[in-house]
Amino acid sequence: MGKQFNSDVLVIGSGAAGLTLALQLADSARVTVISKGTLTEGSTFYAQGGVSAVFNDEDSIDSHVEDTLNSGAGLCNKEAVQFAVEHAREAVQKLIEYGVPFTREISSDGVENYHLTREGGHSHRRVIHAADTTGRAMETTLADRVKQHPNLTIYEQHIAVDLITGDKLGLSTNRCLGAYVLDREKQKVHAFRSKFVILATGGASKVYLYTSNPDVSTGDGIAMAWRAGCRVANMEFIQFHPTCLYHPKAKSFLVSEAVRGEGGKLLLPDGSPFMQKFDPRGELAPRDIVARAIDHEMKRTGSHCVYLDISHKPIDEIKKRFPNIYQRCLEYGFDMAMEPIPVVPAAHYTCGGVMTDLNGRTDIDGLYAIGETAHTGMHGANRLASNSLLECIVFGESAANNIRNQLKKIKLPAPLPDWDESRVTDSDEEVVVSHNWDELRRFMWDYVGIVRTTKRLQRAKHRIDLLLSEIHDYYGNFRVTNDLLELRDLTVVSDLIIRSAMQRKESRGLHYTLDYPDTLPSAQDTILTPENFMTLKKVSG
Ligand code: FAD
Ligand code: SIN
Repeated sequence: MGKQFNSDVLVIGSGAAGLTLALQLADSARVTVISKGTLTEGSTFYAQGGVSAVFNDEDSIDSHVEDTLNSGAGLCNKEAVQFAVEHAREAVQKLIEYGVPFTREISSDGVENYHLTREGGHSHRRVIHAADTTGRAMETTLADRVKQHPNLTIYEQHIAVDLITGDKLGLSTNRCLGAYVLDREKQKVHAFRSKFVILATGGASKVYLYTSNPDVSTGDGIAMAWRAGCRVANMEFIQFHPTCLYHPKAKSFLVSEAVRGEGGKLLLPDGSPFMQKFDPRGELAPRDIVARAIDHEMKRTGSHCVYLDISHKPIDEIKKRFPNIYQRCLEYGFDMAMEPIPVVPAAHYTCGGVMTDLNGRTDIDGLYAIGETAHTGMHGANRLASNSLLECIVFGESAANNIRNQLKKIKLPAPLPDWDESRVTDSDEEVVVSHNWDELRRFMWDYVGIVRTTKRLQRAKHRIDLLLSEIHDYYGNFRVTNDLLELRDLTVVSDLIIRSAMQRKESRGLHYTLDYPDTLPSAQDTILTPENFMTLKKVSG
């Protein structure tokens, strides 16, 4: 029999979003954080470029808002953008107080301040960073604080299976009451009951064969929320980062956009530049444009990669500004201070997700979604560089504030039913899981990638329907394992991506289809509801 664990707040996921919220609430509530790997494993740890916020006197909130809206190609929720940008400096200040070692510099007139870098789509230097390992600095600082707090309980190697709601238990009111969670080491499923449940499980880029994301990014939170009855929005907008290192052993190693921000040029194999042909902003055009340009040139020339060249900069400058990237490239045999390095685009960020308001509240009472799992509307059809960590910390805090105000009036739910394993056995065909993992990620890359067509999407839909039914059967008959749970969630999320992409009859931001190359005059969100009912909602404002 599984155990019951109780808390006021159950945080599923321990990246920047989950840990921000956990720390903000720990003085007022008993908080449990579960994480399916180690506490620090997740996209946050690997973030390089930094966090965008207005710190420079020549910059302004209006300018940051405008750049975000431009990048979002008409689809951003202006209220969410304004909220995040206005709260950015204060949220970053909190990280500084926690001790995140952001890089400082001494200006020509002798004043020491934070160094701000530049990235694509930003019209000012506004990205605060810790050299080229900003995420590691943030994640380890937050994790150290979380580990020291007496009101915080951490369960590593625990993967949430599904949410428990009033509806699922046949109660008269639908509220989220907790979650079933598999202890990956002991292979036991336990019930975690809680007044509030937070989905902070990150993105879903592992649905693609090539991705900058770590293995944990399997879209679990989006799939769980969908199964529980929440709407999801704009899942067709998957961001492909233009520059991941091209090397058979460099699994998912990103070469930060900041390299282009500091003057790096993209070159074809013959050494000629090409970005100006596609956009007057060249290498610093928004990511969708740069990734598509690279994809186009690779297909046109038949080459496996393009090259990124910053070797015209002094070697000391490169080593100081990009110590991690420089070192990692050297390990793979490339000296970026001496030669161009080979790069390719890879799936990087999930712009859509579980629909929330500005306090992270979803369609289900007591259930919140924050960070990459959520769709606040801030990113529209294409996220602006370094706006994701910002979203994690700003909305992590607003959700915490919203929950704090309700802690006293909400009661702990009654004990939850145990996980029922009476009708399942151990699998005798694990090959089904590993085969389907590979198949799914390959057809998503081939048919639902940077450039789409209706025919390719139809092919993908046909395959995903088969996988959904196969995995549904498998899940119903066999004991759950980590790989099966992740595959089940990847398949649900892939289905949402394909259905959203088929619904959009235009090209906008990150969604580009040869069958509808133009952008429609009116921008509309793609909203999916769990009853297989899909509506297009007019974006307000
Ligand atoms: P994550 O940091 O991904 O954390 C998710 C957590 O949820 C993990 O702890 C994971 O184990 C846990 N989890 C997932 N599923 C379950 C489950 N079922 N049960 C229990 N736990 C679960 N953005 C920027 O703004 N600036 C950058 O410079 C930047 N650089 C990036 C570089 C790389 C290589 C990558 C991959 C992304 C980068 N991004 C950047 C994007 C940004 O890092 C992420 O969007 C952001 O960190 C997401 O934070 P999060 O807290 O939502 O999720
Ligand atoms: C990068 O450093 O290029 C990643 C920045 C981001 O995803 O915002």
